[in-house]
Amino acid sequence: MHPARKIYCRTFQSVLKFAIPFLPYRHPKIIGSVRGIPEVLKKKKCRSVLIVTDKGIANLGMLRRLKKSLRENHITYVIYDKTVANPTTVNVYEAAALYHSGHCSAIIAFGGGSSIDCAKAVGVKIARPDKPLAKMKGILKVHTKLPLLIAIPTTAGTGSETTIAAVITDAETRHKYTINDFPLIPRYAVLDPEVTVSLPPFITACTGMDALTHAVEAYIGNSTTPGTRKNALMAVSLIFKNLDTAVKDGTNLEARKNMLKASYYAGCAFTKSYVGYVHAVAHSLGGAYNIPHGYANAVLLPYVLDSYGECIHKKLHALAVAAGIAKRDIPHYKGARLFIYAIQNMKKRYGIGNTIEEIREEDIPKLAHYADKEANPLYPVPVLMNAEELEKFYYMLMPKKKRQPAPKMDFKEYARKAAAKRAAEAAAQASAKAPEKPETTTQPSAKTPEKSETAAQPSDSAPEKAGTTAQASDRTPEEAGTTAQPSDSAPEKSETAETVSSDSKTEE
Ligand SMILES: [Fe+2]
Repeated sequence: MHPARKIYCRTFQSVLKFAIPFLPYRHPKIIGSVRGIPEVLKKKKCRSVLIVTDKGIANLGMLRRLKKSLRENHITYVIYDKTVANPTTVNVYEAAALYHSGHCSAIIAFGGGSSIDCAKAVGVKIARPDKPLAKMKGILKVHTKLPLLIAIPTTAGTGSETTIAAVITDAETRHKYTINDFPLIPRYAVLDPEVTVSLPPFITACTGMDALTHAVEAYIGNSTTPGTRKNALMAVSLIFKNLDTAVKDGTNLEARKNMLKASYYAGCAFTKSYVGYVHAVAHSLGGAYNIPHGYANAVLLPYVLDSYGECIHKKLHALAVAAGIAKRDIPHYKGARLFIYAIQNMKKRYGIGNTIEEIREEDIPKLAHYADKEANPLYPVPVLMNAEELEKFYYMLMPKKKRQPAPKMDFKEYARKAAAKRAAEAAAQASAKAPEKPETTTQPSAKTPEKSETAAQPSDSAPEKAGTTAQASDRTPEEAGTTAQPSDSAPEKSETAETVSSDSKTEE
């Protein structure tokens, strides 16, 4: 990236970062069951609601409990169930028309990120009927209060129930863009594990990987706060402890509930601290080829993390500690390696591949351009890349017959650098202590790095094994956050307490 553009991006991000404490972020209030919704609607004097969902959910009968509950409380409803995987402007306009014809005064989003994003955009359209949606892409273009919005996530991953963003695809150009403004944050989030039990294992895995990507990208970015760091660590801890179970046994309500919490925490983290190039590239692939968002993120995540290099090793190490797969006292590059390996192993366990067949080489410049436009200057990524630099990720994802050689994850280089650095530091220390005998004192201290590496070897040599141990770890998320980032705990307390204690508002 050109140095002048880098300065522009970093300045833009710094301004946003310093503005965070002054911006009207809020967390949605948590309702523990869909049966708690009528009480809220009555309190707000809403007698008619629009339910935004998709065909799959409607056909599976997942709306039954909600509809029954509304009927019993004499609240009328209209259902828009044509939301597609990457919701389009047509979806938004159709649902908004239904809202008006049904004389509704509230919107209930029931589904994954697509339905929730669509419902948010419907709210935007109702609040700003004269302004085209495309004119509100970007940040802070809505300004107006939306109708009451209640989000019921049926996948634990998007975190859309907590965020200021709605991702919409233009039905004509297939361009995917994001509308970001504070009124889009739903007023209530219904974290009801029963609505997620019928989610098939592969979708459970992909959406869980989406939540993981939110937490990781928020954590490694440059605009974190103590609160978002702690939320990200809690999300990573919960995901490593519960995603395997949720995938293997979808009826396990405890795992399902913990994944909903993880998704919520990750959402709270990234709505303030943003995501990064994994999301920017994944959104371009979703827009062009309808690649499911969580799947695209999961495929990309290890490659993008590796491409950032040494500058994020310390942060990845902290995430590995929170995940329970690395000890705190191993070198950062080893913790980073364990974390990336653990993600690769998760992908393997869940049947998520390393390529995306649909990518066509001739599309790559356009896709990279979209990713560049989305990410720069908004996302505070650890390493800035322009469109040309982002193109490499699309080539990496192309099937072997089409693509360039696969990326090499050369951690040996980091190991060599770290060993040399430690040896140099030890030598300098030794010569400072005993300048009169530099040769004899330097000799033994030069061995120190060797020793420390050998000590860390067991956890490093078998990342799969470490991953298995992590599943058995019984540390609480709070502990993980505290141990990994002790310095974060004090200023963060109020924010984290808010998200944790919000569970106590659960009605069932
Ligand atoms: Fe995402």
